[in-house]
Amino acid sequence: MSFSFHISISLFLFFGLIFLVSDSKKLEKFQQVSELDPAELVIVKTPKTAAKFGYHPKGFLYEETPNSEVAKKSHKKFVKVMTKEGVKVVKIDKVFRKLSHEKLEEIAFNFLQYQLAKDSKEVPEKLLYYLSDEHKRDNLRKMSKKQLIDIIFEQPTVIINMTTDLEATHVINRPSANLLFTRDQQIVTAKGLVLGNFGSRQRTPETELMKIFFQILGIPIIGEVPSPARLEGGDFIPFSRDLAFLGVGFYTNMQGANYLMENDLLGSRRLAVVYDEFDMNIQHMHLDTIFNIADESRVVLLDTVIGNTSKIPRIVREYVQNEDSHKYELKREVEFSQFLKEEGFQIIPITDQQQHGYITNFLNLGKRHNGKCLIISVHPDLEKILKEAGYEGKVIYVDYSGITTM
Ligand SMILES: *[C@@H]1O[C@H](CO)[C@@H](O)[C@H](O)[C@H]1NC(C)=O
Ligand SMILES: *[C@@H]1O[C@H](CO)[C@@H](O)[C@H](O)[C@H]1NC(C)=O
Repeated sequence: MSFSFHISISLFLFFGLIFLVSDSKKLEKFQQVSELDPAELVIVKTPKTAAKFGYHPKGFLYEETPNSEVAKKSHKKFVKVMTKEGVKVVKIDKVFRKLSHEKLEEIAFNFLQYQLAKDSKEVPEKLLYYLSDEHKRDNLRKMSKKQLIDIIFEQPTVIINMTTDLEATHVINRPSANLLFTRDQQIVTAKGLVLGNFGSRQRTPETELMKIFFQILGIPIIGEVPSPARLEGGDFIPFSRDLAFLGVGFYTNMQGANYLMENDLLGSRRLAVVYDEFDMNIQHMHLDTIFNIADESRVVLLDTVIGNTSKIPRIVREYVQNEDSHKYELKREVEFSQFLKEEGFQIIPITDQQQHGYITNFLNLGKRHNGKCLIISVHPDLEKILKEAGYEGKVIYVDYSGITTM
């Protein structure tokens, strides 16, 4: 599959579920100037792999034990709402299913490992074949596409022990359990798609997988954040050619921000690094868990971070690109709500309790048919709160409890 028509791409949030395209700018490249760009294409991962690894919710960064049936139902509803609004939804699973058997074999080859147990006896020459790449290839060739895709999403390592014969005593998976949240593996700036680098080790296989996925779709990757720099999609919220926001502190770090600026990957004149020094709470791990943009002039912001008297304020480090050198220079540091007011935003405060219900994690499908924004929310109260603040767009509530557990 390729996207050869003129489009600009937008990466929006929904616990990271999404990847969106709009054609407003008539650009050949995949770019997102603003969170308010109208979305055309949304890339989602079904909750199948994620729900399967409910064996240990905390270890996989989940909030609760997932129920695969409830998760499936929630996800289906979400996809249905977007499709009805004219957004094209692409399922990662489905794109992989459409690949040829040969291509899937090639990808799966790198995600399946045979490993000799540490305390294994030496393997005699005549059995060495069973640990070889040749044997792996022979096996992959005989598998169904479904088996190959499971390998790609679960990255198994088969532990083999030489006793009287070869024994496969156990299989260790390195699953892309949180791939469900497709917002986080990458960002799309006004320049293009940049692959991130996860702060949490459970999530690193997802970036490898998404890289392959973007290559399949023919989406150019303009940068890859190298360790020890960290960058997660939920921290990046672009607003215009003039301004983009990046949360730094819990997962995304200053090296990640510097990588974007030093390599001129942003395409926006200013970067507001929203720095978290005092909070460092996993409940507020990404910028989009405490802040979001509803429309041109309205933002939501967690009330406990607002103002000079807050115990957990965010401080904006405002970087401005020098017109001649193209280098970003730190201009000033200012408290976040102060910064937003100076930019002309109306701040809609959100309570702790509403934040816990993921009220800020809404998906803005952008300015649509009538030039007004369309938002999908997992919190039933968002519509009322935004309308009371003068928001004129639409808000659609989707019961997403089957997914928010994860
Ligand atoms: C491998 O086999 C030996 C017995 O030959 C056993 O003691 C050992 O625990 C086994 N290792 C694994 C990882 O199963
Ligand atoms: C915060 O403090 C700065 C500097 O003292 C001041 O200019 C600003 O008005 C204060 N902002 C708020 C929201 O109180």
